[in-house]
Amino acid sequence: MSPFLLTRTLPEDATEAALRADVQRGLTGTPKTLPPKWFYDAHGSELFERITELPEYYPTRAEREILLARSTAIAAATGARTLVELGSGSSEKTRHLIDAMTGLHTYVPVDVSESALTQAGQALIAERPALSVHALIADFTADLELPDTPGPRLVAFLGGTIGNLLPAERAEFLASLRALLAPGDALLLGTDLVKDERVLVRAYDDAAGVTAAFDKNVLTVVNRELGADFDPDAFDHVALWDAGNEWIEMRLRSLADQTVKVPSLDLAVHFAAGEEMRTEVSAKFRKEGVRAELAAAGLDLSHWWTDDEGRFALSLSTAR
Ligand code: AVJ
Repeated sequence: MSPFLLTRTLPEDATEAALRADVQRGLTGTPKTLPPKWFYDAHGSELFERITELPEYYPTRAEREILLARSTAIAAATGARTLVELGSGSSEKTRHLIDAMTGLHTYVPVDVSESALTQAGQALIAERPALSVHALIADFTADLELPDTPGPRLVAFLGGTIGNLLPAERAEFLASLRALLAPGDALLLGTDLVKDERVLVRAYDDAAGVTAAFDKNVLTVVNRELGADFDPDAFDHVALWDAGNEWIEMRLRSLADQTVKVPSLDLAVHFAAGEEMRTEVSAKFRKEGVRAELAAAGLDLSHWWTDDEGRFALSLSTAR
């Protein structure tokens, strides 16, 4: 039986410090913002799981369709002996890919959730005893260091989560990813695509109100972690398409003139009635834009696969 290793590069208290800094910056800026990474406490992760099953939310199903159809091609094209997955969660998305990668030596799931990493890693090793798993507890948007494992490497960043980054952040992120790779290593990137505005907005404002609850959950997180007194019922969930930037924005609109206290930051934050706070950007992409962003980071696009309806893309690129 091969080893299961777990490495923590994220200090235990780093999460709270980062949340404090983000909330301080976000609630004192104009317009107000909160970064989407704080949606995902246990309840938020559960709500996100429910979102992925909504009829309106197509990205998860579209990406799964592509992975089912293309895993063999991805395995053959990369010949990867190490698979690194950023934001691996339960590793459920990648199971099919892992199974197709017959030459795989080590799987490196990267996530902030230690429990998810341990659970997924143990389950995987039980089924594939020859596979090494070296899990990393890390924030992949911060500095990442990869274990010394055999090449070639394939880094997978799925789900369209790169869309949560603003263009300048994406450029920096892709460049730092490239710096981890050797020439010939590859990146498998999931990107949601530009499409009909109504389809996009519905995916982020579903009829059952699950996305609204997910959006408001960030207020509950700030309440619990920083002692704030946000009333989630005093905000409406808003999803809109920014055609100029080609991204979906989620916002929380204050239903009244109100002041929210954040004791642990010694803050009192005023919201005007109707004022909107941005909680997420989810960028949508086009092939030529993805190619250009990858190229700027030293990654050459080699494959572009979409689902049958052309809603979502997986791209494979190679480090120069
Ligand atoms: C997990 C970032 C890919 O942007 O579609 C789902 C998060 N937000 N519904 C996305 C999300 C609202 C999701 N990502």
